[in-house]
Amino acid sequence: MRDAKIAASILSADFANLGKEVDDVITAGADYIHFDVMDNHYVPCLTVGPMVCSALRKNGVTVPIDVHLMTKPVDSLITEFAKAGASYITIHPEATEHLDRSLQLIRDCGCKAGLAFNPSTPLEYLEYVLERLDMILIMSVNPGFGGQTFIPGTLRKISQVHHIIQDCNHPIRLEVDGGVKVENIAEIANEGADTFVLGTGIFHTDNYHATIASLRSELNRVTH
Ligand code: DX5
Ligand code: ZN
Repeated sequence: MRDAKIAASILSADFANLGKEVDDVITAGADYIHFDVMDNHYVPCLTVGPMVCSALRKNGVTVPIDVHLMTKPVDSLITEFAKAGASYITIHPEATEHLDRSLQLIRDCGCKAGLAFNPSTPLEYLEYVLERLDMILIMSVNPGFGGQTFIPGTLRKISQVHHIIQDCNHPIRLEVDGGVKVENIAEIANEGADTFVLGTGIFHTDNYHATIASLRSELNRVTH
């Protein structure tokens, strides 16, 4: 398949050695660093903020940093993460009072804008904001924790979004997040996804290079 991107989610990295973990996974072939921000409000966990994003940039990370905001509200963090070196900033529609304004803000700050859909969130949110998007993220687990099982019903949703993107006249990445593994990445790609988030699926394996090579070999079986 053409132009697939693998986004390594640092949520499952060893935080005591975060700089090295990020360097290692990039050397092993990860295209993006996926940066999960949880606020103990929109989701139960509490993770990391813009200082850590900025520290990774200062440590020499040059690949895109794909910030996934699982926070409510979002606007002040959009500004902070843009300053901290984020490339993509993805938000959940339920987490902002004014979705159109928040999406505009992401691009005004110089970042690419993403919109995330929880398993039960309807795609209707796309109707009036498609032109503001550079990425659509389909959550294939309920947000808040790494290491959950992929929800099979999201395959149909991925396919629906793929068709919406095909009919739209600007490029939008279709990212899938939650429970992605070597064993199911080809099935997910077959529905039209082109960007794959893996936390435990990479960081809880012994050899990041071998795992990413296996992911690419699975993706090479996919024809779109
Ligand atoms: C879940 C996060 C994911 C998480 C995925 O709320 O958005 O990015 O790290 O973890 P795995 O790949 O282990 O399901
Ligand atoms: Zn995520």
